[in-house]
Amino acid sequence: MPISYNEQLRVFRLDTPRTTYLMGLVGSENFLGHIYYGPTVPDDNMGYLLRLEERPFTPDANAGERASFYDCFPFEYPAWGGGNFRQPCLRLRTAQGGPNCELFYHSHRIFSGKPGLEGLPAAYGDNCATLEITLRDPVLDVKIRLLYTVFEDVDAICRSARIENAGGEVINLDAALSACLELDNEEFDLITLHGSWAREQNMDRRPLASGKQGAFSLRGISSHQFHPFLALCEHTATQERGLVYGMNLVYSGNFLAQAEVDQFNKVRAVLGIHPDGFSWKLEPGQSFQTPETVLVCSDAGLGGMSRAYHDFFREHLIRGQKKHRPSLLNSWEACYFDFDHDKLLQLGREAARYGIELLVVDDGWFGKRDDETTSLGDWQVNEKKLPGGLKRLGEELAEMGVKLGIWMEPEMISPDSDLYRAHPDYAMTISGRTPTQARSQLVLDLTRKEVRNCIYDQISAVLRSAPIRYLKWDMNRPLIDVYSSALPPDRQGEAAHRYVLGLYELQGRLVDDFPDLLLENCCSGGGRFDAGMLYYSPQIWTSDNAEAVDRLVIQEGTSLIYPLSAMEAHVAACPSHVNGRITPFEVRGRVSLPGCFGYELDIDKLSPQEQTLIPEQLEEYRQYGPVFREGDCYRLASYRENGTYDAIMAVSKDKKTAVVSFVQVRSRAYRRSLRLKLAGLEETALYRRKDTDEVRSGAGWMRGGLLMEAVQSDYLTALTVLERV
Ligand code: DGJ
Repeated sequence: MPISYNEQLRVFRLDTPRTTYLMGLVGSENFLGHIYYGPTVPDDNMGYLLRLEERPFTPDANAGERASFYDCFPFEYPAWGGGNFRQPCLRLRTAQGGPNCELFYHSHRIFSGKPGLEGLPAAYGDNCATLEITLRDPVLDVKIRLLYTVFEDVDAICRSARIENAGGEVINLDAALSACLELDNEEFDLITLHGSWAREQNMDRRPLASGKQGAFSLRGISSHQFHPFLALCEHTATQERGLVYGMNLVYSGNFLAQAEVDQFNKVRAVLGIHPDGFSWKLEPGQSFQTPETVLVCSDAGLGGMSRAYHDFFREHLIRGQKKHRPSLLNSWEACYFDFDHDKLLQLGREAARYGIELLVVDDGWFGKRDDETTSLGDWQVNEKKLPGGLKRLGEELAEMGVKLGIWMEPEMISPDSDLYRAHPDYAMTISGRTPTQARSQLVLDLTRKEVRNCIYDQISAVLRSAPIRYLKWDMNRPLIDVYSSALPPDRQGEAAHRYVLGLYELQGRLVDDFPDLLLENCCSGGGRFDAGMLYYSPQIWTSDNAEAVDRLVIQEGTSLIYPLSAMEAHVAACPSHVNGRITPFEVRGRVSLPGCFGYELDIDKLSPQEQTLIPEQLEEYRQYGPVFREGDCYRLASYRENGTYDAIMAVSKDKKTAVVSFVQVRSRAYRRSLRLKLAGLEETALYRRKDTDEVRSGAGWMRGGLLMEAVQSDYLTALTVLERV
């Protein structure tokens, strides 16, 4: 068992292949404190890190300094009360108004496997073990069940908390975060991801300062603006060296990811549902389950952290449809709303000509939707545009050897829709206020079962009506009027989270009922590109900005956490519809190659020379796409950092094939060749470079590097393949 409890030392020990996590029970009251998380240590006895021999000691040794103890003790799951003035994970309110809560160890159990989390996406696996520690507040009789799961094959630890009201009075949760990590501040930098629409997942790295800092969302979605993630790394950490801790939340709604540096230069990092706007009423006997947090620790730099997350998500979170990712042609930037059956068949023929596997009809096929202002909620095919419906289209495409995919935005309702006219109450609105439209639409109240059923029945009818192999599930606005007519006033603080639970229920039903459907999530691009959605859909549309140069930055940030197999990446029209930049077709192809590859343009409008590149691009995707998607990924060079060039490398798990994708965005005057030091190869094995037949040892390629010729031109790209001899 990679989990043990040392009764003598009163220490819990969790081991992943390369890391150790230690917690200990303290004093006669049994406080649960965090001792250590980091590279594997052989010694169980690190209890000295709790600093219990220093003032203020433990309360039972110095009851007069209980407040000081609370002010510095590294709580494993801190509650508000007792003198804990740092960010709590748990804040309660009772009818008396008292927010105080004190948590002490009650019991524990260790078992193999991992339980699911009720209503929430959660990691799975056979080769894992779980520790459940129950903490209890003796006055309120509230129990907290902390779950820790470790896997034999990845350096990741899953954590979550379940809060149970075992007492006799009503309890209100005003904060219920998923996890806390208390560390000494070892000159850490904080890394978060930030952005906006079309500029998602920019990496922000800065030295930790005193006080609170981090990332959050209050938009009802994980958002374009921040990501439910934070990392702490040694100030000197690089791509492949140095200590890095990552915390990532398996959740798609409001979140808080925060690091707090206190008066003793200790860091308390917390992650979970954002307490603002949140409250949850627990009647006696009821419980609340927090989403799961995935902790990763690596002493192999940011790349080490990323590879641990990539393995974890591929092996233990993403459900189904793991390997094959069809190449596709998406109609959105090809023709927006301006299409009919014949136009789609023309796109289908373009796809068929090159062996592109799937045509995606993105928006505009239903209701009377010829622009953004109408018909969301009316998921019946527009027979004027598509006589014979999706069935006829799908069958005619199938005859050409092309599969059909469609777009839907199931969480939304247009005020101009039959659904809204029949059920205006299905939209989330606040009584007496004008509903806030965004993209001319309102949000359906997914907290209500009858609303979910109405939408699900429509989705499943569409999917059963035609040979549809792929669904792009879009979501194009934040939640603003967060109010549910189905909830009483004292439960309105539950609406945002209940919405997310409703969404998970819907997507869970969908993937259970349609196991062969490839589901792709999207939220105006990457506005909800998070681990929660990845549980249901193995790939997500990374950004509405598919322009190659901006995409390098977006994909680099996304790859910090998520495997390349999760990123949908398209060769889009040029000049870019999003930023107007003109980039060569070849570069657009290379930037898209490592992800799930597709085109988002009208191929017939490309120049003959561009068209001749398509078979080559598709062949590269067929041959090397699996290495990028399933192998180990190394970010060799970052255009974001150097302003000139970018290089990403992937090595297959059996270390037989390695692929390096290089893009020179801008040339630099008067320079010699660039030296790209490769990574991840077997040191002593011999590798042949496919284009030149040069053979070197893995060590030779890694230490000597690949010399990239100095060519004085912007927008160059090269794909280098090494095969083990
Ligand atoms: C927003 C998405 O991000 C786009 O890719 C496209 O699907 C449009 N919605 C369609 O309305």
